Amino acid sequence: MKPFDYQAAFSRNLGWVRAEEQESLRGRRVAIAGMGGVGGGHLMALARLGIGAFTIADLDSFDLPNMNRQAGAFTSTLGRPKAETLAGMAREVNPEIRLRVFPNGITPENLDDFLDGADLFVDGIDFFAMDIRRLAFARCRELGIPAVTAAPIGMGVGLLAFMPTGMSFESYFRLEGQTEDEQYLRFLLGVAPRGLHRAYLVDPSRIDLANHRGPSTGAACLLCAGAVAAMATRILLMRGGVEAAPVHHHYDAYLQRFVQTRLRRGNAEPVQRLKLAIARRQFAAMLRAPRPPEPPATPLEAILEAARWAPSGDNVQPWRFEVLGEDQVRVRFDPHDPANPYEYRGGEPSVLSAGMMLEALRIAATMHGRAMECRIDEGSDRLVAELRFVPAPKQEPDPLYALLPLRSVDRRPYRRRGLLPRERTALEAAIGPGLRLRWHEDDNGRMAFARLGARATRFRLRLPGAHAVHRSAIDWAPGDSQTGIPAGATGLWRPTLPVMRWAIRDWRRMVAVNRLGGAHSAALQLDWATAFGSAAFLSVALPKDAPRDREGLLVAGASLLRFWLTATRLGLAMQPGIAVLLCAQAAGTSLPNAALARDAERCAEELRALAGPETDRLVFLARIGEPRDAPPRQRSVRRPLAELRGG
Ligand SMILES: Cc1cc2nc3c(=O)[nH]c(=O)nc-3n(C[C@H](O)[C@H](O)[C@H](O)COP(=O)(O)O)c2cc1C
Repeated sequence: MKPFDYQAAFSRNLGWVRAEEQESLRGRRVAIAGMGGVGGGHLMALARLGIGAFTIADLDSFDLPNMNRQAGAFTSTLGRPKAETLAGMAREVNPEIRLRVFPNGITPENLDDFLDGADLFVDGIDFFAMDIRRLAFARCRELGIPAVTAAPIGMGVGLLAFMPTGMSFESYFRLEGQTEDEQYLRFLLGVAPRGLHRAYLVDPSRIDLANHRGPSTGAACLLCAGAVAAMATRILLMRGGVEAAPVHHHYDAYLQRFVQTRLRRGNAEPVQRLKLAIARRQFAAMLRAPRPPEPPATPLEAILEAARWAPSGDNVQPWRFEVLGEDQVRVRFDPHDPANPYEYRGGEPSVLSAGMMLEALRIAATMHGRAMECRIDEGSDRLVAELRFVPAPKQEPDPLYALLPLRSVDRRPYRRRGLLPRERTALEAAIGPGLRLRWHEDDNGRMAFARLGARATRFRLRLPGAHAVHRSAIDWAPGDSQTGIPAGATGLWRPTLPVMRWAIRDWRRMVAVNRLGGAHSAALQLDWATAFGSAAFLSVALPKDAPRDREGLLVAGASLLRFWLTATRLGLAMQPGIAVLLCAQAAGTSLPNAALARDAERCAEELRALAGPETDRLVFLARIGEPRDAPPRQRSVRRPLAELRGG
C-alpha cells in the first residue's frame, strides 16, 4: 500500500486553493457539534478539504431511520456511536488528522473545552436541541470564533454565518425568554425566512413535534455539507467578503431557486413577525392533526397497502379484504348495483376494476418475493377471490410496482403532440394479445370522440338515475378525496364549480340548470376542450368470439391496468371515458323521455360508425397524452387499509 502523502491527497483542491493556503488548512481546527445528518457530512466534506484538525461531539448511536441521510449510517454501523464512527471515517480520508472526540456530546460544562483551539464552529446540532445551540453560538462570539449553521430544509440548504463582530445569533433569532415551541418556530423562520420548502411539503403529518422528529433528506444534508465547506474555505483562508448575518442564503435544489434575504433586525423585522403569527396558527393546527398510519407490519399488509391504489369507477373501491392467514386473503367485491347506470351490462365496469385490483395485488406481491395464487368463487352473488401469496425467491419485482401509487387520472387537456413510436410500442406490448387495441389519432377521430363524449355527458347529466351517483362521487371538501373524486379533479372549470355544487344537491335544481345550458356547458369543458387536448383516443375490445363473461373481463381489467401503469411510466396521462359506452348501450332500453332515447340512439349509431364490427365487443374507451402541467393539485386517494379490511 502506498504511504499517505498529504500534498498528493489534497492536490486536486489546488487551483481553487493555492498550495500555501492548502498548508494553512492543514493547520486549522474546526469544531463540529453533532455527527448526525448535517454534522457527519460537514466532517467528511471538511476532511476532504484537507482541514488538519477537528473537535467533534455526539452522544448518539446510529439507528435505521438515519440511513436516508447520515454520512456515517451504514448497515455495518447500526448501533455504533456516531462520534467514534465518523472519527474513523475521517481518518480513512486523512490518517494524519488530529481529532478530539467528545462521545458524550457537548454540554454547558464541557463547552469551553470543546471550543478550545477551534478556528471555526460548525453547527450540526439536532434541530430541537435549542438550549445548547444558543449557548454554543453565544460562547463562540465571546471567544471570537466564527460560527456557521447550514440547515437542511426540504431539498435545499439555508445558510447563515455569524462572525464575531457582526450580528449575533441571539439578535438574529430572538429566542431569549421564548417557550420551547416558539423557539423552534423562530429558528425555522430564521433559517428559511422565505419558506420555499413549504411549496412541496406533501405530507405535513410527518412533522412530529411531540417526539422531536421531522422529515429530512439526504439531498439537503449533502447540500449543507458542500455549502459549509465552501464557506469554511473563505473564512479560514481569510479571503474576506463573507456575507454573514443578517444576510441569509437559501438554495432550494428541488425548486431550482436561490434567494438571498437581509433581515437587519432578524426575527424582529415586521415581515418576520407577521410570518411568525401565521406560522403559530399553522403550528397549532399541526399539533391537532392526526398522526400518520403505522407502516405495514407484515409482507401481506404491504401488498394490500400497495394494491389499494388500484383504480375503480368514481373511486368507490368496491372491495374489502379479509385476512385469513399470514399469506392468505379473501377479497370480496361489492355486489352489482342495478340502480347505478354506470354499472351497465350487469356491472361490467366493476368487474374490470376487480381485474385491475387482482393485477395490482399480483404486481405488489412480486415486490415481496411472492407469487399470487388466485381462485375465483363463482357460486356467490358477488365476486369473491381467494388469494394466497406463496414465496417465490426467484421472482423479480415487477417494474410496474413503483407506478401503482403514482398513476392517477388527469382530466385536464393534454399536449396535442402525437404518440411517439416507442410509446406506442410499449403501450401495445403492455396490453398484450388478449385485447384488441385501436388508436384514433387524426382530427376526424378526435372530432368523433368529442361529439360522442359530449352527447354522453349531456345524456348522463339529464338522466335521473345518474344524479345520485354524481352527487356521492364528487367530493367538495378541499384537498384529496379518500372516497370519491375531488371537485377540483373532475375536469370542470373552476368558475363553474359553484353552480355545479348548488345544482347537484337537488335533482330539480339540476333540471333547471340543464335547461339554462348546464349540460352543454359541462360537455364543452369535459369533452370538447379535452378532445383537442389529447395525443390520441383509444378503444379496447374483446377479441372476436371471446366470451364476454366474468373471467374474460377480469383478464381484460388486468391488461388495462398494465396498459395504464405503462402509460404512467412513459410520463403519459390517461382518462377513461366509459360514459360513451353507458350512453350507447342504453339505446333501445326504456328511458324516462324521448330526448334521452334519441341521444342514446345517436350515440350508438355514431359509436358503430367509429368502431365498426368491434362495437359490441368494446370494453373500454380512453384518451391519452403528455400532460401539460404538473399533476393536478387534488387527486383521488384511497380509504385507509384498516377500513378496507372491514371484512
Ligand atoms: C373501469 C373504470 C372506468 C372509469 N371510467 C372513468 C370515466 O368514464 N371518466 C373518468 O374521468 N374516469 C374514469 N375512471 C377513473 C376513476 O374515476 C379513477 O380511477 C378513480 O376515481 C380513482 O382515481 P385515480 O385513478 O386518480 O387514482 C374509471 C376507472 C375505472 C377503473
